[in-house]
Amino acid sequence: MTKHLITSALPYVNGLPHLGHLVGCLLPSDVYARYLRQKGEQVLLVCGTDDHGTSSEVGAIKEGINVRDYCKKYHDRQAALYEGFNLSFDYFGQTSSEQNKEIVYRIFHDLEKNGLIEERTTNQVYSIDEDRYLPDSYVIGTCPHCGYDKAKGDQCENCTKLLDPTDLINPRSSISGSTNIEIRPTKHLFLQLPKMQKELENWIETKRGIWPDIAYTTAKKWLKEGLKERGITRDLKWGFAVPRNGFENKVFYVWFDAPIGYIGITKQWADMDKDNRNWEDWWLNAPDVRHTEFMGKDNIPFHSITFPATLRGSREAWTEVSFLKGFNYLNFAGGKFSKSAQRGIFLDAALEEFPADYWRYWLMANAPESDDSSFSFELFASVINKDLNDVLGNFINRVLKMTFNNFGEQVPPMGDLTEDETALYETVDELVASYTSYLDGLEFRKAMAALRELFVAGNNYIAKTEPWKAAKTDKARAGTILNTALNLIYLYANLSAPIMPQTAEKMLDVLNKPANFVWPNEKAESFLKTLKAGDKINPSDPLFSKITPERQEELRAKYKETE
Ligand code: MF3
Ligand code: ZN
Repeated sequence: MTKHLITSALPYVNGLPHLGHLVGCLLPSDVYARYLRQKGEQVLLVCGTDDHGTSSEVGAIKEGINVRDYCKKYHDRQAALYEGFNLSFDYFGQTSSEQNKEIVYRIFHDLEKNGLIEERTTNQVYSIDEDRYLPDSYVIGTCPHCGYDKAKGDQCENCTKLLDPTDLINPRSSISGSTNIEIRPTKHLFLQLPKMQKELENWIETKRGIWPDIAYTTAKKWLKEGLKERGITRDLKWGFAVPRNGFENKVFYVWFDAPIGYIGITKQWADMDKDNRNWEDWWLNAPDVRHTEFMGKDNIPFHSITFPATLRGSREAWTEVSFLKGFNYLNFAGGKFSKSAQRGIFLDAALEEFPADYWRYWLMANAPESDDSSFSFELFASVINKDLNDVLGNFINRVLKMTFNNFGEQVPPMGDLTEDETALYETVDELVASYTSYLDGLEFRKAMAALRELFVAGNNYIAKTEPWKAAKTDKARAGTILNTALNLIYLYANLSAPIMPQTAEKMLDVLNKPANFVWPNEKAESFLKTLKAGDKINPSDPLFSKITPERQEELRAKYKETE
């Protein structure tokens, strides 16, 4: 049986995660994992923080703490937020772990052995007072093209021209401001991607029409430009030391060890050794594993070219990506989320404003799949108010109320069926089939549209059958309708569970069912008879509440949406 390995891109440890990160990799990986688990599939969902790199080193210096403690602090902070959003990672690890180091070394030595690593001497900016090399982006100065005085050594943010640190006028360190800098030659290791061009071309060709367009075309574009050798080491202290003579003060580049982190994190998970877990079952000589990766579009080149080349170049049978789900960006009121400007909605704030499920539902319904999408409180409120409050919430409230008023706290008996039920079964069968197949195909927006249609179908059913009238004239008929409607709530709970796990649990609570979700494999005609006459049902407060225009106004101001 196929085993599903699911990974979400590993967020930088010191980034401030916002809604864009959530929708661009973390949340869809969780939804997909929950869906597959619910179908009874074997799933391993791993994620973790991407710990290495200059920004961690600099961040730790700023806070005056050891960089390892710094990473742990922000790792734990992120882990708590993701728990708040009910992301069901089997393990949320760290790329700086011993386990990852072991695997990074193993792959590196294989690449060396296979002639895919070369030494090159490059020129790098050195800050004499700080006694360190500066990555290009940490050298700032005046842009020679537009005169902007805070241009970075790799690119000018103002005019977007690509730069070399030596182009800058009045260059200085962005860490200390020191202008006492010089260019020094330094040796680095380069992965020989050109040697793998043909092999990768052939492999990517097998993904044509299978991977989402954005993933396939991004990979193709890189291949078309011709692969260049890539530096995999850096002059830094924080990172995995490079195991080679003459490289004592260098570490591996963060983008070399980060994706290997998927494997390292799986090993962290296995090393906890509950029930004899084995990381190799997922990663080495494991043809039964299907690996689905989730990421934002900026990550696609690394996951479609450099990481696969790293794994293939080792000539061991590492598990490769089977399906690469790439996302576009989620913008905030037309602009970008910005950490420095504190513009946008960061995950801690999001959880303070609304329950996780509101966010989960909205984000999946508006996932930036075929294009960038945009968040605004108005759009958010309109979806929550309509889909969740008016359509799903009201359906549940009305059905429960009519049941309690006419039959007490139990499922009424099911009598003879009419063509209204037959028509409902038909609609439900169609929609469940398309919902399921969209989830299988990782087409989230379409899946969400099918789910919404299912909620609408329930409303249409009671609008048509008018159980409030039947209750006065034909109690048996009212019982049949309400029995069917309660079973629809049971169906909604199960189908919503991957998207809104907490709400789905509350729905099962109302129906006095344990939180054990199933995927409907049977036809509606039998599935909608799961709850039987006499089964207990429980009163409940409304599951959703509306977001008023006043509240929207407040939120817009608070989060500077209009600025
Ligand atoms: N930290 C990177 C980012 O946030 C993603 C790394 S994904 C990994 O863009 F697989 F390489 F770890
Ligand atoms: Zn410029």
